[in-house]
Amino acid sequence: MEYVLFAIIAYLLGSIPSALLVGKIGFNKDIREHGSGNLGATNAFRVLGMKAGIIVTLSDILKGTVATVIPILFDASVHPLLIGLFAVIGHTYPIFAKFKGGKAVATSSGIILGSFPLLFVIMVTTFLLSLYLSKYVSLSSIITGVVTIIISLFYKDIVLIAIISFLTLFVIYRHKENLKRIKNGTEPKITWM
Ligand code: G3P
Repeated sequence: MEYVLFAIIAYLLGSIPSALLVGKIGFNKDIREHGSGNLGATNAFRVLGMKAGIIVTLSDILKGTVATVIPILFDASVHPLLIGLFAVIGHTYPIFAKFKGGKAVATSSGIILGSFPLLFVIMVTTFLLSLYLSKYVSLSSIITGVVTIIISLFYKDIVLIAIISFLTLFVIYRHKENLKRIKNGTEPKITWM
């Protein structure tokens, strides 16, 4: 029964639409009507600027981390990533924003930070390196997912491997429009790196 409660808390935490809140409170702007329209950190950087982008990134990561750390603190016998998964679902399909949320990247990394911090460091390094080389946030997110699947094999934790694999496929699915834009050359590249 406690698992259901943890999962509900995780979903509600994930549902907090950081990008929407920062845009509306700080800039009186609904970022769903600007840039890519996505309720995520990349679009917050794009539409609201560096400071707001950093705040949204950290909040979106933190939602996943807190959701994962709660069952760990309560010594629950459920794998923390199975609870964290609900935060990612909340972030992507948020009850507080008409079920139209982000693309699952930052919150997915947050659930890894809460349960496998070293793997999170590897993910961030992979992401930054991919971003430096490609200049595409979307492509770097996907590459990071694929690399994380490979690294996760060394952990010999079947739930970790299954969840990373599922999340990577989900991230690819959520980026299908970005992939089309990369193909036809219209996906924006970052300019600050
Ligand atoms: O994680 C989201 C990012 O990879 C792409 O976001 O706003 O360019 O669609 P966006």
